[in-house]
Amino acid sequence: MKNQDILQCFANTTEYVSGQTLADKLGVSRQAVWKGIEALRSRGYDIESIPRRGYRLVSFPSFLNVPAIRASLETKVIGSRLEVLDTVGSTNDYIKVLGSDGCQNGTVVVTREQTKGKGRLGRSWQSEKDEALAFSVLLRPRIAPHEAGAITPLAGLAVCKALREFTGLDCKIKWPNDIIVGRKKLCGILTEMSAEFDAVEFLVTGVGVNVDQAVFSENIAYKATSLLLETGRHFDPNQLLARLLRQMEEEFISNDLKLSPFAVEEYQSLCATVGRSVTFTRGSRRINGMAVGIADGGELKIMLSNGSLCNVNSGEVTVQGIY
Ligand code: BTN
Repeated sequence: MKNQDILQCFANTTEYVSGQTLADKLGVSRQAVWKGIEALRSRGYDIESIPRRGYRLVSFPSFLNVPAIRASLETKVIGSRLEVLDTVGSTNDYIKVLGSDGCQNGTVVVTREQTKGKGRLGRSWQSEKDEALAFSVLLRPRIAPHEAGAITPLAGLAVCKALREFTGLDCKIKWPNDIIVGRKKLCGILTEMSAEFDAVEFLVTGVGVNVDQAVFSENIAYKATSLLLETGRHFDPNQLLARLLRQMEEEFISNDLKLSPFAVEEYQSLCATVGRSVTFTRGSRRINGMAVGIADGGELKIMLSNGSLCNVNSGEVTVQGIY
């Protein structure tokens, strides 16, 4: 018997379950049930016991765990397979191995600690144990590689909308998909693809949300923020993850991974880059301009100093007044 099996017996009930019922269901002795309950308590599960009535699950531990995520999860596809790790190098790298082994569409991997987190443009991403939410979602859309670009703006849109609703913060998108509050970054997203010449094998969307950091290391402190710093509150990472996955399912699956005109409009209204002076790199040149909107494919429309318009679809864009 695994301790997880005991938790399963409390699913869908807030009532007491007697020690004998648990023992019968699990095919073990009452003594074994009691030991399992003690082990769960030591891992942060609050389980009440009353003589002659039995045990009742009062609350889950506040760190990431499968039963607590499942209790809040409202999705059909995303999270259909869910793994919670204690520690891993990078959830994106881990899920890509699962992807190559044929894991199902909608697989999610989340970790309590990431030791080699990856950011965009070859950067690293810091997430200390139980301070950040770091997870990856794997999708297997039937599309050609050139159609996969929509996932980047859709991911930004989904995460921004979910964070706004869940936290009440005025989150915005810094193009292409950083989520910021004021001038500081709250969350980063890294999308990766595995593809054949004419078909996508799978897409990975990795999301890192700063949740409980009270301080950041000196090199990023000027541009990083967390939910704790912005609100003074602790957010349950299990519920936060479930909310994010719900919104990702809505934006990705309902829109068939296509960027509809409505989604572009919504994205643009949440994009803090639009309306600001920006600098971007083309070849070895640094070019200044004004971000004036979002194009149909999610590219950033920039007006150059000579009045001409150009669309930028990748790379680093520095935004005046942000970072
Ligand atoms: C960025 O802003 O540069 C992107 C950061 C993406 C970080 C997340 S954390 C979960 C997933 N695993 C990784 O190694 N990276 C992404």
